[in-house]
Amino acid sequence: MTRYLDRVIAGDAPTPDDWNDHLIAFHRAFNDGTASLVSTLRTASGQTSYDVLAARIKALAPTAHSILDVGCGDGALLALLAQTFSPDVALSGVDLCENEIERARKRVPAASLVCGDAARYEMGRGRYDVATAHLSFMSMPGVRAVIEGLRDALRPGGLLVFVVEDPLESDTIVTLMREAIVVVRAQFPRFTPSVPGREPIERDDALRALLADIGLNTHTIERYVLAGACSPAQLWALLQRTYPLGLLDASLHERIREHTINHAPVGSDGLVRVTLSLRLVVAGAGQR
Ligand SMILES: C[S@@+](CC[C@H](N)C(=O)[O-])C[C@H]1O[C@@H](n2cnc3c(N)ncnc32)[C@H](O)[C@@H]1O
Repeated sequence: MTRYLDRVIAGDAPTPDDWNDHLIAFHRAFNDGTASLVSTLRTASGQTSYDVLAARIKALAPTAHSILDVGCGDGALLALLAQTFSPDVALSGVDLCENEIERARKRVPAASLVCGDAARYEMGRGRYDVATAHLSFMSMPGVRAVIEGLRDALRPGGLLVFVVEDPLESDTIVTLMREAIVVVRAQFPRFTPSVPGREPIERDDALRALLADIGLNTHTIERYVLAGACSPAQLWALLQRTYPLGLLDASLHERIREHTINHAPVGSDGLVRVTLSLRLVVAGAGQR
């Protein structure tokens, strides 16, 4: 287990560095990235979440020449942006985890990729037409510093276009996480995992206030739902790949699985319906 988990289990407050070390250990243990799981879910019109974000960026900034993806993971979005904006776009990415960056390097060899904490990474000034992030801001303790860096790194008129979770009580993984935490608490009553020090950006008002405080206007927040169906084994893979649960020990995993996945409602096709609700946010300095 990581120091982050030791502290959460003990009911102590983990530090941002504990969290970041935990993420690095997590991505070493699970070498199959977010994209392989999220890409199995689609909107009603058949798009993946990466398709939705790339299309929105293209619509908003059709002539963008430079795009930065923060928390780029294995490069799924960058690869799509490379296709969408080909051939005249300079793509850059930063990710905390070396494993993810290595995978991104293979996937998008032309992109400029850096391994490091985006909250401490020198992004430069006025360099990018668009800054983006797909499902990464919510896992950053230093999200304020990251967005401040992005504000400075954008060219005048540049846009920040990103996707964050919209954690609804009815979403499959939110529901399963809640049930899983109850199971862990039976053994460790103080287990209350969270991202240390992060602003409560799961709420729209907190997100808008944070952006405004940093000097960015929130132009739009659009919601969309991804849905799919997966076998109980796939659903377990999904639940196991949530940051607070993935590195718990095997006996605890067995108990979580028994009390969550084994009771998930399976259809006559042997599959469990899955939904994930997301928000696509467009922000920028000044009016658009
Ligand atoms: C849920 S994954 C999403 C990955 C990718 N954007 C995608 O959607 O496929 C979150 C990513 O954010 C990265 N990340 C988290 N905190 C970070 C930080 N402080 N600086 C840079 N990357 C970070 C993680 O390493 C991970 O790759």
